Amino acid sequence: MITPSTSELLRPLQIGSLIVPGRLYKSATSETRCTEDGFVTDELLEFYEPMARVGTPLIVTGNLYVSLQGKSAGRQAGIDADDKKPGLRDWVQLAHGGGSLLVAQLNHGGRQIGKSAVAGQAPVSASSVREPMLGTTPRSLRRDEIPALVETFAAAAERARDVGFDGVQIHAAHGYLLGQFLTPHTNRRTDEYGGSLDNRMRLLREVYRAIRRRVGDDYPIMLKINGTDMLPPFRRGAATADLVRVAAVLQDEGLDAVEVSRGIYESWPSTILGHYKGFIRTHVTEGAGRDQPRYQRMAMLAAAPMIERAAEHLAPGGEGFNLPQAEKFCARLDIPVICVGGFHTTSGMAAAIASGRCDAVSAARAFIADPYLFDHVRTPVTNAPVCGYCNGCIARHGGKPIDCYVEEIRVRKDLMLMVDPTPRSATEFPANPRTAQ
Ligand SMILES: Cc1cc2nc3c(=O)[nH]c(=O)nc-3n(C[C@H](O)[C@H](O)[C@H](O)COP(=O)(O)O)c2cc1C
Ligand code: SF4
Repeated sequence: MITPSTSELLRPLQIGSLIVPGRLYKSATSETRCTEDGFVTDELLEFYEPMARVGTPLIVTGNLYVSLQGKSAGRQAGIDADDKKPGLRDWVQLAHGGGSLLVAQLNHGGRQIGKSAVAGQAPVSASSVREPMLGTTPRSLRRDEIPALVETFAAAAERARDVGFDGVQIHAAHGYLLGQFLTPHTNRRTDEYGGSLDNRMRLLREVYRAIRRRVGDDYPIMLKINGTDMLPPFRRGAATADLVRVAAVLQDEGLDAVEVSRGIYESWPSTILGHYKGFIRTHVTEGAGRDQPRYQRMAMLAAAPMIERAAEHLAPGGEGFNLPQAEKFCARLDIPVICVGGFHTTSGMAAAIASGRCDAVSAARAFIADPYLFDHVRTPVTNAPVCGYCNGCIARHGGKPIDCYVEEIRVRKDLMLMVDPTPRSATEFPANPRTAQ
C-alpha cells in the first residue's frame, strides 16, 4: 500500500551522476566478518544479501581501512591492496544483483585503534593526544608523512571504482583520523595542518582532491561528517558551524552528498544514542575492549553501573536524533544531505524528509535488526523485527560478527529471512536501472 509516507521514501534522489531510487539508505556498519587480514568472506556477504535482495536503494559498507596503519578493529574489511579486489568485486556484484547501489566507506582510524595492526608501531593522529576509551597514545603525524597518507585514500578510491562500487564515502565523522584533524581537542598542531579551521580541514581537502583527481569528475564522492563532536566545552569539539563550513567548501570543489552523524569515541556514547545497560561488560569481554590492558578493563567494569546510568540519562536517543544538526547542513548546502540517527519508522523517516531538514535518511541498527527494512516501507508488515537500540551489536564490534544480539529479535529476523526469502514487493518494484543487468 503506497501511503504518502511511503511515496516520500520512494522518491528518487540524484547524488552526483547517480539516480538513487529511494531515500532510505543503509548507513555504514563495520562488520567484524572479514578474515583477520581484511579479505571479504561469505560471512560478510551473508549479512548484506537480504538488504540487497530487497533492493535497498543505497548501501554504505562498513568503514574499509585504506592502509594497515589505519585498520581500527578486528576482522575489519580492507581496501588497502589490490589483492583485496576480487572479494570486493563479489560484494559489489551481490549488491547489484538485488538492485542496490553500493558505496565504499574509506577510513583511517588514527588514534581510535584498539591494537595497532602494524607490529611495534604506535597509532598516528594529528597530535599526540591520548584516546581514553581505548587507552592508546598516538604519535603526531610528521609533515613529510602526509602525502603518502593522502595517496592511500586516492589508491583505495581507485580500487573501489575499478571493482564497480557506485561511489565512495570519505569517513570524517566519529573521531577517526580525518575527524581528529578537524577537532581542536585532538589537533594541537602548529604547522599548516593545525590552528585555524582552514588548516584543520587541509588534510580532508587534500584527501578529497586526490580522490577526485584519481576517480574523475563523474564518480560520486560522499562525505560522512559529524554535526557535533558531543565533547564538553572544555574539551573543544569542532563547532557545528565549522563542520557545516567544511562541507560547504568541499561542495564547492565538487562533493556530491553529505551524511550527518555525531560523536567521537571519547564522547561515548554519542554516536549511538540509545540504551547502555551491560554495554561496558560486553565491550570488554566480547568486543574491541578485549584488547585493552587488564587494569583498564577492571577499572571500566568497576565504574560501569555509574557510567551506564549516566549515559542512559544524558543520551536517550530517539528517532532522528541528528536532525537538529542535519538541518543546518541542509540550509547551507545545495547537494543532498542525508541524516542518520535512530530512524526506524516509515512515518518518522518520511516526516524528517518532508520537513525539509534533510533530503534522505539512513539507518544502521534498524537494518541490523531488520535487513528488509526498506521492503517493509513499501509493504508494511506487523511482525517485523524492530531494533530496541540496546547497543548490543556495537558493544561487540571488533570481537563478534555484526548481528542483532537480542535473541527474541534475532530469532524473529532469522525466521523472517527463512520463511520469506523473496518478499513480494521486492519483485513488484523495479530494480535500479543503473545496476539491474
Ligand atoms: C555495529 C555498528 C557498526 C558501525 N560501524 C560504523 C562504520 O564502520 N562507519 C560509520 O561511519 N559508522 C558506523 N556505525 C555508526 C552508524 O553508521 C550510525 O552512524 C549510528 O549507528 C547511528 O545510526 P542508527 O541510530 O541508525 O544506528 C556503526 C554502528 C553500529 C551499530
Ligand atoms: S543488538 Fe539488536 S536490538 Fe540491540 S541495537 Fe543492535 S540491532 Fe538493535
